[in-house]
Amino acid sequence: MIPFVDFTREYKEIGKEIDVAIKEVLERGFFILGPELENFEKKFAEYCDAKYCVGVNSGTDALYLSLLCAGIGPGDEVIVPVNTAVPTAMAVSMSGAKPVFADCDENFLIDIDKIPQLLTKKTKAIMPVHLYGRACDMGRLKKLAVANKLFLIEDCAQSAGAEWDGKKVGTLGDFGCFSFYPTKNLGAYGDGGAVIINNEDYYKKLLASRFYGQADRVHCSGFGINSRLDEIQAAILNAKLKHLDIWNNARQKIADLYRKLITNPKIILPAASNDNNHIYHLFVIRAPKRDSLKKILEDKGIKTAIHYPAPLSRHSFFAGAKQELFPMADQYAGEILSLPMHPFLEESEIREIADVLNNYA
Ligand SMILES: Cc1ncc(COP(=O)(O)O)c(C=O)c1O
Repeated sequence: MIPFVDFTREYKEIGKEIDVAIKEVLERGFFILGPELENFEKKFAEYCDAKYCVGVNSGTDALYLSLLCAGIGPGDEVIVPVNTAVPTAMAVSMSGAKPVFADCDENFLIDIDKIPQLLTKKTKAIMPVHLYGRACDMGRLKKLAVANKLFLIEDCAQSAGAEWDGKKVGTLGDFGCFSFYPTKNLGAYGDGGAVIINNEDYYKKLLASRFYGQADRVHCSGFGINSRLDEIQAAILNAKLKHLDIWNNARQKIADLYRKLITNPKIILPAASNDNNHIYHLFVIRAPKRDSLKKILEDKGIKTAIHYPAPLSRHSFFAGAKQELFPMADQYAGEILSLPMHPFLEESEIREIADVLNNYA
């Protein structure tokens, strides 16, 4: 059997570090907003070359609290790619604003050419998603955002460590929002998230809004929720952050090998990219009759997944947008297939997967 991801292999490699990290927290007896989180926020900000980092409960909260901090709410609109995980748009709905969907380009990223026609007086932000680990063209997005006085809130849930033009994603817009859900490139062993920012006022607002609106931990001066990255998860992330570049590099090598070995012209491979532009959270191919290919792989014990089976415009909660606006996302939803991808995938497994794909008629 070839699993889609395999945390047991990761634990075999770094189990001792994880055990020590968790034990230290247990022996300290301090579980919320303590030294592990402080250390992680400092280290992750340094890693991304950002001034500040605020650890929160999840990637969804990272997006929601950033919107809140930017003053976005009821009556406002936020441009979101139509082919993303539900939480990208749900965070906008949580703020009271309306997600406005944009189609994707051939790299599955928000089609920047389609954004201008979606802008209205109500538009307050663009929320690009560095989907599957590939960085969006932040140069063009930034120009568009500045020209239209819009916030740029980056959804970096799938892209910890990816770069655009030599700079880490999350530092190019106003807010960089990360998820540490276990399957992410930098994953905790539970839920977790963070926002990175360079603006001190937003930093202070975020600190308060993740703690019931209490800036000084005593007095409530604004709206806030409970959204804190706990000490055990922060300790795990501190241990795992040291491995992130090595693991991202392993993913890039696996992607290169997939690209070399899969030679069936019916299978469309993701375009190669430069430097750290893509850190392969997922390796997503396109194939005709995708569902039958998925079944063939499944029958051979090879687990795959679909990210995502339907564009958000086709979910009843987000209904209302004109479906004909999303021809690319609509077509791709029926063709995409995510192959097994994690830093511990072995060459023999990649060869086995490629063999099945090459024999697919
Ligand atoms: C693109 C994207 N945005 C946001 C999220 C939300 O992250 P979380 O599950 O940590 O709330 C995810 C994770 O599933 C994601 O993949």
